[in-house]
Amino acid sequence: MNKTGVIFDLDGVIVDTAKYHFLAWKNLADSLGFEFTEAHNELLKGVSRVRSLEILLDIGDATVSEEKKQEFLISKNEEYLKYITKMGADEILSGASELLDALDDLGIQYVLGSASKNAPLILKQVGLYNRFLGIVDGNSVSQAKPDPEVFLIGAKKLNLKPENCIVFEDAIAGVEAANRANMTSIGIGDKKTLSGADYNFNNLTEISADFIKDLIEKLENNKEQ
Ligand code: G6P
Ligand code: MG
Repeated sequence: MNKTGVIFDLDGVIVDTAKYHFLAWKNLADSLGFEFTEAHNELLKGVSRVRSLEILLDIGDATVSEEKKQEFLISKNEEYLKYITKMGADEILSGASELLDALDDLGIQYVLGSASKNAPLILKQVGLYNRFLGIVDGNSVSQAKPDPEVFLIGAKKLNLKPENCIVFEDAIAGVEAANRANMTSIGIGDKKTLSGADYNFNNLTEISADFIKDLIEKLENNKEQ
């Protein structure tokens, strides 16, 4: 039986969908008559769809009815779906497939822990859906990251204690969620931005099979103490 498991965030770790979220949110901002920049888009990483809309409306200083908000959430997602339904395996981020292969070789199981309600569709588009033992997505949680709920459900799917789980995340909210869940957090992206992570890498190509092996050994030795 495995003593250690891995939980992957999706957007920004396995695939880069931030650019499509950006185009879809920008389309909404344009229609409302205010500017939405790539820097603004950074604020939406790892954040739920509903919270993203609230942040966007704040940026534009726009006050809209609850009914309009619901309309915007639907139209933004329809626009976003136009992009993601065109995705293919060529959009898997460098190093991701190799890392999954390395975990398979070590017999380490992994699940997905994403805020996105589109996570299953995206994984199917890029041909990775069947590789995950389980999928925890935006439909399975009541609390968004930085709440640890998404990762705690992931640990249950792995049948492991939280402290036996390793999380790969590219968002500040996600690293915080992993830390609050008492898991080992690995930040993928800018080290300064993700300074709260236990380990940092610029991207998944920097992660060697040896690093994973050593980390797993370290976690398993700690457990036995
Ligand atoms: C991920 C992305 C966020 C996005 C969220 C919800 O966490 O990093 O930018 O807002 O998923 O995505 P969804 O596909 O449900 O709109
Ligand atoms: Mg992410």
